[in-house]
Amino acid sequence: MSKFKIVAKTFAGLENVLADEIKGIGGESVSVERRAVSFYGDQELMYRANFHLRTALKILKPIAEFDVADRDELYDRSKSVPWSDYLALGKSFAIDSTVQSEMFINSMYASLKVKDAIADHFREKTGKRPSVNTENPDIRINVYLMGGHCILSLDSSGESLHKRGYRIGQGEAPINEVLAAGMILLTGWNGQKDFLDPMCGSGTILIEAAMIAKGIPPGMYRKSFGFELWPDFNEDLFDEICNGEYEKEYSGKILGSDISIKDIAIARANIKNASLTKVIELQVQDFIKLELPFSDGIIITNPPYGERMKPSSIIELYQSIGNTLKNRYAGFEAWIISSSVEGFMSIGLKPSKKIDLFNGALACSYRSFELFQGSHKQAVIIKKTNVVNADINYDKPKRLIIKKL
Ligand SMILES: C[S@@+](CC[C@H](N)C(=O)[O-])C[C@H]1O[C@@H](n2cnc3c(N)ncnc32)[C@H](O)[C@@H]1O
Repeated sequence: MSKFKIVAKTFAGLENVLADEIKGIGGESVSVERRAVSFYGDQELMYRANFHLRTALKILKPIAEFDVADRDELYDRSKSVPWSDYLALGKSFAIDSTVQSEMFINSMYASLKVKDAIADHFREKTGKRPSVNTENPDIRINVYLMGGHCILSLDSSGESLHKRGYRIGQGEAPINEVLAAGMILLTGWNGQKDFLDPMCGSGTILIEAAMIAKGIPPGMYRKSFGFELWPDFNEDLFDEICNGEYEKEYSGKILGSDISIKDIAIARANIKNASLTKVIELQVQDFIKLELPFSDGIIITNPPYGERMKPSSIIELYQSIGNTLKNRYAGFEAWIISSSVEGFMSIGLKPSKKIDLFNGALACSYRSFELFQGSHKQAVIIKKTNVVNADINYDKPKRLIIKKL
């Protein structure tokens, strides 16, 4: 099968995780770009990318790339693309654009220009034109215009890949599925330790964690992908990919809890819909009162950011999160995403890592806290040394036998 360039789009901050995923499915010449990763592969790899990549939002297949000086040239160059190779007259199409160019004040105008070019291409050749359907088109076309550089691509995904297909309900602020998967992969977790999200809302982080631990591809629950309506769709090839043996054994624990009865009911429904009831346990509980579920593990959570809370309450909430982690979760590794600067300032723990991410339009920090018993300073000494035959009792540090590296 012939190879071509493929571009996977993602969120800022997840590019390197996505690049690793792409290498894992056999992508060649993988190159990290801004909110995207480009690579080379054949039709099978493009199908696999849609089915397997947890941190991709869209998989695009570029079909034309050119430089333009103005809007008229964009129209002319777009019109000369052999559109009938990709789009039959009876089919509908839609265009979405990413534009950063002085040529257009609004990306919608660039979409309109290319839409006119495609319609006129067909009208001049056949007297007819394919219809436009912005809601549910057969073929989606992506316009990327950066300055005067334009790339026209076919969108092989159709609806964004964050729409996995398992979500039937959502709380007030559900996290995007692609962001949740990216947050988990950024920690390096793939089932090694037990997993807790103590503010799980509708259960997105838990479901993505369970899918990672059990090797369930993110495309498993989706009803359709854009490429299934392409003229060259190879159904047998795609069936083979869908029917592959991917699932692995996972015997660890994944626990979610939330103070809201309503959110836990929504999480339960989503988890049931994803057929993960046996893998994920749920509890209605305030994090402060949660019985320690296991002796060590990883916590990944997305607490409220304070958008709808009084500043005093957000400070109190993050103070209580920090105190609970410090006093009751020694041995755990905790990762928290938040846009609340005051929140992080009130948590009273020193992060060992900080990663910039966006949750929708909100600039967030994703921070890890390694929770040791005793002081942070003492913990750092322990980390920097090689402990040999140590009778470790962190409450009595003088008894530690530590051999310098
Ligand atoms: C931003 S939402 C989490 C959304 C979730 N990641 C999802 O995808 O649906 C924050 C959650 O924290 C919960 N929460 C707030 N205070 C809490 C507390 N003290 N203990 C447990 N949960 C709490 C809220 O009920 C809410 O569901």
